[in-house]
Amino acid sequence: MKYSSQMVAKPYFIFALILLAGEILFGLIMGLQYIYGDFLFPLIPFSVARMVHVNLLIVLLLFGFMGVSYYLIPEESERELWSPLLAKITFWVFAVTGVLTILGYLFVPYAELAKMTFNDLLPTMGREYLEQPLITKVGLVLVILSYVLNLTMTVLKGRRTVISIILLTGLFGLAFLFLFAFYVPENLVMDKFFWWFVIHLWVEATWELIMGAFLAFVLIKLTGVDREHIDKWLYLIIAMTLLSGLIGTGHHFYYIGAPSYWLWIGTLSSAFEPLPFFLMILFAYSMVKNSRITHDNAIALTWAKGTAVMSFLGAGVWGFMHTLAPVNYYTHGTQLTAAHGHLSFFGAYVMIVFALISYAMPILRGRPKGNCAKAQKVELTSFWLMVIGMLGLTIALTIAGIVQIELQRIPDSANALDFMSTQARLNWIYYIRLGFGVMVLIGLFTYFYSFFVKEEK
Ligand code: HEM
Ligand code: HEM
Ligand SMILES: [Fe+2]
Repeated sequence: MKYSSQMVAKPYFIFALILLAGEILFGLIMGLQYIYGDFLFPLIPFSVARMVHVNLLIVLLLFGFMGVSYYLIPEESERELWSPLLAKITFWVFAVTGVLTILGYLFVPYAELAKMTFNDLLPTMGREYLEQPLITKVGLVLVILSYVLNLTMTVLKGRRTVISIILLTGLFGLAFLFLFAFYVPENLVMDKFFWWFVIHLWVEATWELIMGAFLAFVLIKLTGVDREHIDKWLYLIIAMTLLSGLIGTGHHFYYIGAPSYWLWIGTLSSAFEPLPFFLMILFAYSMVKNSRITHDNAIALTWAKGTAVMSFLGAGVWGFMHTLAPVNYYTHGTQLTAAHGHLSFFGAYVMIVFALISYAMPILRGRPKGNCAKAQKVELTSFWLMVIGMLGLTIALTIAGIVQIELQRIPDSANALDFMSTQARLNWIYYIRLGFGVMVLIGLFTYFYSFFVKEEK
């Protein structure tokens, strides 16, 4: 470790991994509820489990991003973090707010939680991913501000690199767009319209910049390729991301009551969205080919290459499947959407966090060359368990989606099955989904185990 303040990243990494275990656990609970409708009812209703599942996902990714940035920025800026103390305080504020919010979801009825937390004052609750009480949302704004301030001050006082500028651009975007979480128009069409300003413009614009910066950083470290070479790739990826992703928001405006010109705008612009993800594969593999060093931490490179491939599959391929307006007419809100949601979030953002944890954590633990061969082997097993598990879960949901569309969406209204009858016909496939889900959890526990493998002398 070059700068002692990089150490603040460690609790962020550990906490992100613990939250991931919780997230997957709630996924499994819902996987069971799909098969046995009253499993854990009324203790944990499906709606609550779903909210906990997706909220944990967002929070763990934010913890992951923060940990990675606090590790990366000092090294890029060639100086200590502006305020390690602020980063530590931010960690505790965020962790306590996050835990209290999840406990609130689990133990207080949602309407009561809304009353207790001043939702009457400014109603912001009840929208998917943005279910957090007002107090939590305000806390999140403070946490993000303190995080962005800390990084910006470090960059301003130190060396400025393309990687840190792109990372900061992504983070400023993330912070700004979150403000739309406070804007909830009465009109349902407008409500949906602006909801996507947070959701779509996070995952398909600003977070992509963050991911590009993280991937470039870890590739420089592991391959020793020149910065100039990497910077050119980054510019290209970022330009493609913004060109396609910003107007690409239109692929969510097809059938929500927005004007019909969005059918064309959304279709034409979002059709190009897979391109930056494809470029990331070319980027990663060409860096590896031009490698100037052989880093001992081979498993971190496996994660980096895996991220490029899996994000292209989840976002690029599974995204493209339903992004054209005439296709989306049939697929909207089916299990196909859930298939895409799982593989894209996992392949892009969960995996990039894994890649950086696998690179940085051994260094933070005093092992600059990475973990020993045995620990890396255990980690490789965990890599495949999680990747195959998520792919299997996604393919199961894709088949479920296709059957659902056939039964529920294609026939005319006289012959179409209703939602619940369709889901009942799909029971068999939800067993398969559950099986692959269990595999993902075993994979994560194998990853945890790799931390405890004793170093070979
Ligand atoms: C890291 C792994 C995972 C990620 C990134 C993830 C992500 C997500 C996302 C983004 C959604 C919302 C999807 C949408 O609205 O279209 C969701 C919902 C869901 N997830 Fe996961 N999930 C993961 C693991 C799991 C596992 C292991 C299972 C269970 C086997 C699972 C079961 C579910 C279920 C049942 C839903 C609700 C779908 C519905 O409303 O019908 N998830 N997950
Ligand atoms: C890593 C990047 C991405 C992530 C994390 C992601 C995640 C998601 C999630 C979770 C949903 C469901 C939202 C809901 O609850 O309604 C969704 C919907 C959608 N995504 Fe993505 N996505 C990504 C990239 C893409 C790309 C590149 C495309 C197009 C090429 C795309 C096309 C779509 C479309 C068309 C929908 C709407 C589906 C519907 O109408 O039901 N996504 N995405
Ligand atoms: Fe989108």
